[in-house]
Amino acid sequence: MVIWLARRRRSENRDLEYPTPGLRTSGQRPSERGGEISSGKQLRVAVAGAGAFGRNHLRVVRELEAAGEGVALTAAVEQDAARAEEAAKRYGIRVFASIDELLKADLNLDAACVAVPTVKHHEVAAALLEAGLDLLVEKPLAANLAEADDLIERAERRGRIVQPGHLERFNPAVLAVEPRLKRPMFFEAHRLSVFTPRALDVDVVLDLMIHDLDIVLTFARSAVREVRAVGLPIVSPKVDIANVRVEFETGCVANFTASRVSTERVRKLRFFEPREYVSIDYARREVLAIRMEDSGASGVSEEHRHPPLPQELKRGKDGAPNSSVQLAQAAAEFLATGKLDGAAIEKLMGSGQIPATVAMGIVAAKNDPEKLKAIAKGLAGPQDGPAPGLRFVKPEVTPGEPLKLELLSFFESVRTRKTPKVTARQGRAALELALAIQAAMAAHAERAGLEDFFRGRC
Ligand SMILES: NC(=O)c1ccc[n+]([C@@H]2O[C@H](COP(=O)([O-])OP(=O)(O)OC[C@H]3O[C@@H](n4cnc5c(N)ncnc54)[C@H](O)[C@@H]3O)[C@@H](O)[C@H]2O)c1
Repeated sequence: MVIWLARRRRSENRDLEYPTPGLRTSGQRPSERGGEISSGKQLRVAVAGAGAFGRNHLRVVRELEAAGEGVALTAAVEQDAARAEEAAKRYGIRVFASIDELLKADLNLDAACVAVPTVKHHEVAAALLEAGLDLLVEKPLAANLAEADDLIERAERRGRIVQPGHLERFNPAVLAVEPRLKRPMFFEAHRLSVFTPRALDVDVVLDLMIHDLDIVLTFARSAVREVRAVGLPIVSPKVDIANVRVEFETGCVANFTASRVSTERVRKLRFFEPREYVSIDYARREVLAIRMEDSGASGVSEEHRHPPLPQELKRGKDGAPNSSVQLAQAAAEFLATGKLDGAAIEKLMGSGQIPATVAMGIVAAKNDPEKLKAIAKGLAGPQDGPAPGLRFVKPEVTPGEPLKLELLSFFESVRTRKTPKVTARQGRAALELALAIQAAMAAHAERAGLEDFFRGRC
């Protein structure tokens, strides 16, 4: 069944945020195309850039075509001859060496995915917009705000859709959490990658952290009040590892760590809201929530007398006790000896594996033995469950490939002209925060006298 027809019906009554294709006044596409799109004709799609990520766009558009989702992978643009040939062979499509050549071929395209390096997003996207195409532009939307503003202005003037490729918005774990968000007040984001020589046209903030910036901006729903940041170049001339603290006008605080020189791959976001802690593992597409329950007459709800703990939380991959068990052990030792094993606690806190509420509690206790004792008592409770009054919950996550969900959502917007789930202005907001972070890192580097570090002379 062609899924988009059903989806269209649901959104028929929404206001049109963008003109229908039939309202276009000029461009490469014939004006009658609008009617054809709304009556169910296949969207003709091109992919610009057939590199590491563009290949995924090519694959997914072809898979959607094969699944009868109303799209046709029609052409690609790739300036590297070997990559162009590979894409042409694999998908049996024409692959052009430049956007000019693509547009001259007059292929009646409806939409394109832009997956060229970030520094070229503006040049490529601007040409495609002027040709009347709707675009999914990979993240970050552009390399600077002037370019982002120019793309937004062109899209609005031409009545085109520009959806920035903030893929994590379509991560099934994020989709599971989003509808039940309350009031997140504290975020911890970790996005670590093993070094590969790609995306070096930008720093780690625009390369990796931008995903978390967009998610936290979406979840926090507040303007930014203050940014503090430190970033260092390690193997490339640009910042490869960064740590950032953002405070929002609402008082919400977010800590971000991103590295492309790590020994492990981590993609995690944890946040706290009233009576709840939520941990999203983007890579595993899983969510774990710890909720505070309303207590009964005894002070402890029925459920918490025997709190369930998923088996995988008891032991790590190697069979060793995981951090919550280690923490409970450290706490029990503290209660027995009166001494806090600072090294163990510090290691656990540094690993980012212990709930941040506990970490914050330990820091706030400032070595006060009574306060530490109270924390330790809570932790040293039942070894196989959360503290009394807390409950582990694993919200249901509907499986799916984020890129497939992202492209389906984009194509639905192209057909129905409804506002995309991720708007160009949201892409601009994430970029604006990323640039503020870069400025804060530069100021820190100057304060700390790190000029030589950045010139590779340290
Ligand atoms: N959403 C995500 O999770 C995600 C992941 C990785 C990359 N990306 C984004 O995708 C984009 C591409 O990244 P990548 O890792 O694939 O880079 P890449 O360097 O592997 O690929 C880019 C390709 O674009 C081609 N190219 C350059 N200029 C061109 C032009 N003017 N016309 C046609 N082709 C051109 C290059 O030859 C190269 O093959 C970047 O914006 C990056 O931020 C997004």
